[in-house]
Amino acid sequence: MSRVAYVNGRYLPHARAEVHIEDRGYQFSDGVYEVCEVRGGRLVDERKHLARLERSLTEIRMPVPMSPAALRVVLRETLRRNRVRDGLLYLQVTRGVARRDHGFPPPGTKPSIVVTARSIDRAKLEGQAETGVAIVTVPDNRWERVDIKTIALLPNVLARQSARDQGAREAWFVDRDGFVTEGSSSNAWIVSKAGAIVTRPAAGGILKGITREVALEVATQQGLKIEERKFTVAEALAAREAFLTSATQVVMPVVRIDGSKVGDGRPGAVARALRARFHDTAELGP
Ligand code: PDD
Repeated sequence: MSRVAYVNGRYLPHARAEVHIEDRGYQFSDGVYEVCEVRGGRLVDERKHLARLERSLTEIRMPVPMSPAALRVVLRETLRRNRVRDGLLYLQVTRGVARRDHGFPPPGTKPSIVVTARSIDRAKLEGQAETGVAIVTVPDNRWERVDIKTIALLPNVLARQSARDQGAREAWFVDRDGFVTEGSSSNAWIVSKAGAIVTRPAAGGILKGITREVALEVATQQGLKIEERKFTVAEALAAREAFLTSATQVVMPVVRIDGSKVGDGRPGAVARALRARFHDTAELGP
């Protein structure tokens, strides 16, 4: 079946879905995005993702380009036309097409909106969760506003490739003081020796992940001790467990950090339990 993309009001065959070369996303990475999990044809935590999109837009001084109700229709139609049951939805908004000039384009310039959706092999993802993944650490060389979900992802791209080159799934950024910030496209967690779930506070140095927020709720329901605080690579290496969260991977156990085993080198009980119960708490759309 051929894929379809939504581009500025039209549903186009994926292979012919294009934006102009002077789109500010292409020229300046002047835009923001969201990625939602799709489960059984329904969007997971859509409301939270759209609220974060609105926040990202406000932070880059862009108006919301269409009403949430209209946007929801587009998201559903994109899923429907691509017949996605289990997969991912991608939504990007840029400041539109205009002659290249660093300052904002003239008033009235239409933002560009692109929505794509694709299926994923859920069995494969579950298989990875059964064995866990390896991560490597890299210096965090990003700008300060990583709380905005911007499409300017070059440091993340380089970090992820560095992980791939070393046979790992993800790279964890480490700040100047030796504390883990987050992954190139995920949030980072450990279970301390004392058994507490530890993850960096959303107030500094990370994107406030929607999966992170829901996983914290699940952990609270499970009566787990939660510490929102920074942790070092050394603490992660000595931890009982490590895992990462994102819309694409949900809760994914981390079993190796920079080539060293975490715990016994197998997915831990806490990560497994959070993954198993995650979708009982996440909001499933209509
Ligand atoms: N990335 N941190 C970063 C830097 C991310 O890019 C992401 C998500 C997260 C996790 O956020 P959430 O739980 O809301 O997905 C944390 C998406 C999945 C991506 O870029 O593909």
